[in-house]
Amino acid sequence: MAQPKPPVAGEELTPEQRKFLEQKRAQQATAGEYRSDQGAYLKSGRQQKQERKEEVKAAREAARVPPQPMTRREFLNYAWGAATAVLLVEAGIASFMFALPRFKEGEFGGLFPLGPITGMPSADAPPVRNLDGQFWLSMDTDGLRALYRVCTHLGCLYEWKDQTFRFECPCHGSKFHKNGVYIEGPAPRSLDQFVILLRKNGEVVAQTTEGGQAVSSSDPDVEVVVDTGKKLNGPSV
Ligand code: FES
Repeated sequence: MAQPKPPVAGEELTPEQRKFLEQKRAQQATAGEYRSDQGAYLKSGRQQKQERKEEVKAAREAARVPPQPMTRREFLNYAWGAATAVLLVEAGIASFMFALPRFKEGEFGGLFPLGPITGMPSADAPPVRNLDGQFWLSMDTDGLRALYRVCTHLGCLYEWKDQTFRFECPCHGSKFHKNGVYIEGPAPRSLDQFVILLRKNGEVVAQTTEGGQAVSSSDPDVEVVVDTGKKLNGPSV
């Protein structure tokens, strides 16, 4: 089949020439470009979009200011700021950790709230053992004491004896009064004790002194708390 004569600018197209051009345009369009009726290249929408993107990218690259090297003064300012921030964070963490109690309430080494003082054993009753807190709660006419359960000789656990109404150590025979005072045996000192806090409305109103004196109160609203984190050594014999 004979090819139609190529169109000349200004001439009217014959139907064959128009059909030929339409076929040619369709072929070129699938390849991404085609010619206009006058023979100039026309670009597909995808090509135009891609070109616009590249132009925008190139404009941005041109507008970008190259990074300037940091001056010595700026470097020192940044370093000082970073060091200060690190110090502040460390100080905050240290304060927080210091404020936290090391032992939970009811755990040996921590506080043992025992309720109102009116619920404590009477002066003529035997002492009461607290296994979790490792102490004997002992009341006499002077007041209340929390005696550490461990013998002051070599660390055995002494026991209360109702028959003799005193503490006796099964290991080497040391003996102590109900208030923890040494009686006889190889123990070098009276029994150790924990500090008792008497609290009212959350405020400490009395507590065991360094000398180990008993605490007492006639106020029925006072609460008894034993601090097993504070041990006082018994006086030497
Ligand atoms: S350990 Fe108690 S008397 Fe020796």
